[in-house]
Amino acid sequence: MLRQALLAISKSRRAERLVTSSPLTADVVRRYVADDIGAVVDRLTRNGLLVSVDHLGEEVADRAQAQRAVGEYLSLLDRLPAGADVSVKLTALGLRLSEQLALDHAAVICQAAESKAITVTLDAEEHDTIPGLHAVHATLRKEHADVGVVVQAYLPEALERCQKLGGARVRLCKGAYTAPGAYTSTADIDLSFVRCLKALMEGTGYPMVATHDPRLVRIASTLAVLAGRDVAGFEYQMLYGVRPGEQTRLAGLGAKVRVYVPYGADWYAYLMRRLAERPRNLAFFLRSLVSR
Ligand code: FDA
Repeated sequence: MLRQALLAISKSRRAERLVTSSPLTADVVRRYVADDIGAVVDRLTRNGLLVSVDHLGEEVADRAQAQRAVGEYLSLLDRLPAGADVSVKLTALGLRLSEQLALDHAAVICQAAESKAITVTLDAEEHDTIPGLHAVHATLRKEHADVGVVVQAYLPEALERCQKLGGARVRLCKGAYTAPGAYTSTADIDLSFVRCLKALMEGTGYPMVATHDPRLVRIASTLAVLAGRDVAGFEYQMLYGVRPGEQTRLAGLGAKVRVYVPYGADWYAYLMRRLAERPRNLAFFLRSLVSR
């Protein structure tokens, strides 16, 4: 219930104006969103962590906005070290205006990233954008073999999707939105996650295990061993600000751990999804508003 309400609020312009105009949200935003992206990337990489950087923004209204998003990514690529990844939302590149436009924009980013030994991963967003996401990903892969894509385990078609994505870099997550027909119970989502994970580990691609769930992290390491993958054959991924101790613990054990680091002014929808993931976060958020 609360999750649905927060996800609905994440799309409300009125709520966005209210929350973003309040100086009191700054602490909560800082927990999940990098204020100085260069300094955060430096700190994480010095601690043995990899990064995937997301320039916040989604749902552009026109072509000029989409072009500005491409420009942001191009200047971001100049500031990232080799081995980094950038996470891209196709709606920020104009997917809802035209699939071809988003494809052209994503291709420009992939080309620039490739020349700097940086990878690109396409985020999965609202359910109506998923067919476009996979169509764009399939076309991009013909020129840029290592462009990655996110699969959301809450979608019943997730397993088939993972099986079809042979050879690809696939980031598996539970899913942060809502979708008609999607699994909603924890048990169903976790079961789907494990089935997908098994398919990815046994497949020929590169699995990116995007979860903070301790049980799924343990299962991932077991499935990797059973599939004959060593630590270089897959990676864990976690969000900036979520379980940082676990991120460094896993990296200390020799695992590859990539932190998804969002930055930029357009943080509202991202923050609301983080609050929706964990009701306790909402209490933390509300407390930060009243404790000033
Ligand atoms: P779960 O929600 O069960 O959390 C497990 C534990 O992790 C919690 O008990 C808590 O301790 C901690 N935790 C989780 N979320 C927290 C939060 N927000 N704040 C504080 N603690 C928290 N989704 C999507 O639809 N499309 C996408 O492209 C992506 N991309 C993506 C990239 C990466 C690197 C990650 C880690 C996640 C995503 N997601 C995503 C989000 C994903 O779908 C999911 O909503 C969150 O990861 C939360 O699910 P968990 O698997 O962590 O489990």
